[in-house]
Amino acid sequence: MKVKSILGISTLTLLIIASGSVYSSNYQEHSKDVEDWRKTGTPEEQLKALVKVTPGTHHWMPEIAYRLQSMYWAGKQQKWEFAEYQIDSMEKMIGRVANARPKRGPSIDTFKANVFGELYKAVKSKDFEVFAEAVAITSTECTACHAKEGFGYIAIPAVPPKPNNIVLD
Ligand code: HEC
Repeated sequence: MKVKSILGISTLTLLIIASGSVYSSNYQEHSKDVEDWRKTGTPEEQLKALVKVTPGTHHWMPEIAYRLQSMYWAGKQQKWEFAEYQIDSMEKMIGRVANARPKRGPSIDTFKANVFGELYKAVKSKDFEVFAEAVAITSTECTACHAKEGFGYIAIPAVPPKPNNIVLD
């Protein structure tokens, strides 16, 4: 396990160094002496810097909201496979938040337990009324997590606005 993660880091480091050298030629004269952690940092410093740039809750949330919007409107337009695809994407993204920000994990576990079973059942029913109810429960759970995490003013509506999605009418 340890060997594997060390190998993982060095492969990643190699990739970063390789991409750094490709792009470094585009930098201007005034920045040529600036230290670049991707080239000169120790593996520990590089790992620390990489963890810092890992997208966190703030990054994933608008993406998750977009999935909720697309999922609702896909159901409204009877595009059930597309709706299910969006539920699946949303589940993966919320999992990424738990991984990137472990302290959000307990709230995410509650959300997952209260939401996904209902959503998958509803999308399979292909009944829009059932589906709209499951989406409304989801929105309530989104808002409940925001309140619990100290962002009670981020309230998610039961009927989300239509997204700008090329797949939807
Ligand atoms: C862990 C509990 C949690 C769950 C579950 C959750 N959120 Fe969030 N959400 C947050 C936190 C925390 C923030 C504020 C993050 C920050 O600013 O660092 C946030 C921020 C947001 C924002 C504001 C983003 C911005 O920058 O404008 C939106 C929109 C959002 N969430 C939508 C949703 C939707 C839609 C759902 C449900 C499908 C959801 N969230 C589920 C915790 C959660």
